[in-house]
Amino acid sequence: MCGIIGYSGHRPAVPLLLEGLHRLEYRGYDSAGVAFEQGAHLQVVKAAGKLAALEEKLEKVPCMLATAGIGHTRWATHGLPVERNAHPHLSQGGGIAIIHNGIIENFQELKDELLARGHTFLSDTDTEVLAHLIGEERRMADNLGDAFARALRRAHGAYAVVMLAPEELGVIYAARMAAPLLMGVGTGEVFVASDIPAFLPYTREVVFLEDGEIARIEGGRWSVFSLADLSPVEKTVSHVPWDMQAAAKDGYRHFMLKEIMEQPRVIQDCLSGRITESASGHRVCLRELDGLPVPERLHIVACGTSYNAGLWGRQLLEHTGGIPTDLDIASEFRYRDPLLRPQDMVLVISQSGETADTLAALRLAREKGCKVIGLCNVLGSSIAREADVVLYTQAGPEISVASTKAMCSQMTLLALIALYYGQRRQPACADPELLEAIMGLPVLLAGALPAMRQKAEALAVRFSSARSFFYLGRGQYYALALEGALKLKELSYIHAEGYASGEMKHGPIALIDPAFPTFALALDNALFPKVKSNIQEVLARQGRVIALVQERDGKAPDLEVEEMWVLPEAHPVAASFLALPALQLFSYHVADYLGKDVDQPRNLAKSVTVE
Ligand code: AGP
Repeated sequence: MCGIIGYSGHRPAVPLLLEGLHRLEYRGYDSAGVAFEQGAHLQVVKAAGKLAALEEKLEKVPCMLATAGIGHTRWATHGLPVERNAHPHLSQGGGIAIIHNGIIENFQELKDELLARGHTFLSDTDTEVLAHLIGEERRMADNLGDAFARALRRAHGAYAVVMLAPEELGVIYAARMAAPLLMGVGTGEVFVASDIPAFLPYTREVVFLEDGEIARIEGGRWSVFSLADLSPVEKTVSHVPWDMQAAAKDGYRHFMLKEIMEQPRVIQDCLSGRITESASGHRVCLRELDGLPVPERLHIVACGTSYNAGLWGRQLLEHTGGIPTDLDIASEFRYRDPLLRPQDMVLVISQSGETADTLAALRLAREKGCKVIGLCNVLGSSIAREADVVLYTQAGPEISVASTKAMCSQMTLLALIALYYGQRRQPACADPELLEAIMGLPVLLAGALPAMRQKAEALAVRFSSARSFFYLGRGQYYALALEGALKLKELSYIHAEGYASGEMKHGPIALIDPAFPTFALALDNALFPKVKSNIQEVLARQGRVIALVQERDGKAPDLEVEEMWVLPEAHPVAASFLALPALQLFSYHVADYLGKDVDQPRNLAKSVTVE
């Protein structure tokens, strides 16, 4: 998620752009830049690293006369976090500057077309392609706004894009498609930004742009048009009562809650550019893996939540991908001298890409001659750089220490990898129903989350006095049981154990009593009878049970428990993507109800860079 700000008004633009970018720093970034009008020309200044590097450069550039400009902090998705990839990007010839948040899925196809027309590119980004495309369309269009719209109609994917061009001095264009963008309307000045904090000290009067809308800003005046045909669009101005902190969290109480609730978009972004449509239907496209052979055996290595994601993905990698798959906790893997063969591959999973044990496991695998696939969220991280190939989850910065949306994106990508290997072993898609179910996840999740939040909050109040908790699950839900227990432990400091349901009889059941409730994950229809009998064993010993189940044919399954949490019916794999946020929300509300520091739990670091 990049930070975007544009300004047109009566004051020097550059100081306002920098101030706004500072207020968007919480979104995470690895480079930054601004573009502003210098007479009839564009001045672009950008720098890798933090805003201080950009500010240092700007001290040497006269910029106080410009009253229109655009600014950007970049969270890299395409192209490493280096200066040449920082925004703003220019069209061929430099007459148009744009900044962008999102992913242009068909950028390679557009780039090839522009290269064939003699365009030359300075960066590896999809954004620069869009800038060149606008410049190319300008040659045929009646005016700049028309060129902007024509180019955007050809761009597929998610974008919040802002444009500045001296052809129309003092004017800024902005457009959004599946990425946040809004205007802040001041007195004689208008801001456009990806997030309210960017301009909150100057105005609380906000116009929210919708998908398929283009805004034109000139001084204190603004107007909005439809991308489709440039017809005028009526917009209302809303007053935003938030303070700065609330605004950074999009109005949520904590970053964790914000990140749980944005999982539908996270899945969408993770899928972006990775599913193609052909006459024979949808197929998974993972270019990063095309250069590697299909592994004879895969070893997944990770820590914490990333390990739980890997455990969840193993079943799919074997059954759908046809790849025999092992799994190791990184801190164990690196010291047990594993027997690895050169034809084996190691898949390391790490949100931060900096976890010391996982990085050590990667290095050990490479010493043993194995190819390593990295599955990371942070571009340019150590693991991303040292892996033979890296697949990015594209989840955006995860601010809360407790990992939530990262696991959701890791599971999504693991499902795609399983489908990808299944495809490579046979021409047709290995499991078209699964792929359709994965594609439908954003809508499924968006529809279910609001009710889940209410249920989780109510349950949290009733169970927050527990001193210990069991989480039980079988198959893919064993992984989610481990994750549910981890979340409750690290957020509320309540002891919790994730267990394979079938293991209860082998000792743990001795612990069951009314003060030791059990969260039973009973969503797998095939294994439901088994989990039901495990639940009955707990009930027979006066254990309290919360059963997480899914509807079947419109009805809740037949279970006599204290609390039945019924989720919507879904594809067997998609059901995991409903169960995960349910567990996350339960732990979140227990911790919040107990007054814990939800975003920064005691003793924890966001990235464990030491052993
Ligand atoms: C999860 O909520 C924890 N923050 C922790 O277990 C985390 O998943 C683990 O440290 C691995 O981090 P990574 O994904 O960045 O490697």
